[in-house]
Amino acid sequence: MRLKGRAAIVTGASSGIGRGIALAMAREGAHVVVADIRERPKQGKYHETDLTTSTVEELENLGAKGLFVQTDVADDRALNDLIDQAVSEFGGLDILVNNAGIAIPGGIEETSIADYDAIMAVNLRALYVASKYAMPHLKTPSGRIIHIASVQAYGGGGGPAYAASKAGVVNLTRDTALELAPFGATVNAICPGYIETPIQDYLTPQDIADSRAKTPLPRLGLPEDIGKAAVFFASDDAAWITGTALPVDGGWMASIF
Ligand SMILES: NC(=O)c1ccc[n+]([C@@H]2O[C@H](COP(=O)([O-])OP(=O)(O)OC[C@H]3O[C@@H](n4cnc5c(N)ncnc54)[C@H](O)[C@@H]3O)[C@@H](O)[C@H]2O)c1
Repeated sequence: MRLKGRAAIVTGASSGIGRGIALAMAREGAHVVVADIRERPKQGKYHETDLTTSTVEELENLGAKGLFVQTDVADDRALNDLIDQAVSEFGGLDILVNNAGIAIPGGIEETSIADYDAIMAVNLRALYVASKYAMPHLKTPSGRIIHIASVQAYGGGGGPAYAASKAGVVNLTRDTALELAPFGATVNAICPGYIETPIQDYLTPQDIADSRAKTPLPRLGLPEDIGKAAVFFASDDAAWITGTALPVDGGWMASIF
């Protein structure tokens, strides 16, 4: 068990990638705080269409300790309370996974300024705020921050606010890594390609076929693919890796760079 007894917070962990990360960490012995605006999983149009159990129920089925804390990551006070609750429940904090994210389709003309602000608040600003509140607890060699960015950090086509937010996450990762490095704690990002989750509901079947065509490996990604990468970054195996952004994308970026 690579994360035995470690305490983790995963934001946006009721559905999709965050749920996959929470369960993967629990299988390695971690206790997990599920921080989400909703407790029950989203049921997607294409993916995760019939999930009903909460992530905490699944964590407990695995024999792990789980705690749901209702949290809107765009609310600074809620993030502060989240860190306090995690520390008091588990006696400390080892791992913060900033995963919650939203996508609003459309270009600059179609989307509103409020849409832009909402995406930036959840996808970028919240990662800074959560890291700020968690950092005092993470200044140890087991301390880990893992941000979920995207392959869209590296190119156009993801939407003006979404792509900009994810590019910001990659550089936030580097800067935060420098700040925590003297303590032996690490900060890394994961850049998923197309992962089968409810976030894809706004796509058309043709969009999904196009994503499949851009993915060289013979299937689209699953939340557990990201879960396994997150476990690696959280574990002692990755103790000397910091400030990186790892594509976990079935080869999507191989054709770009
Ligand atoms: N699925 C993909 O293909 C893909 C690709 C690249 C990056 N990502 C990123 O991965 C992360 C997770 O995406 P997903 O596909 O699992 O999405 P999802 O929509 O399937 O799940 C997101 C979860 O976050 C929660 N959430 C949304 N807003 C929140 C808020 N303000 N506060 C707290 N929780 C909130 C939702 O309730 C949901 O449980 C996001 O940052 C997304 O940008 C996803």
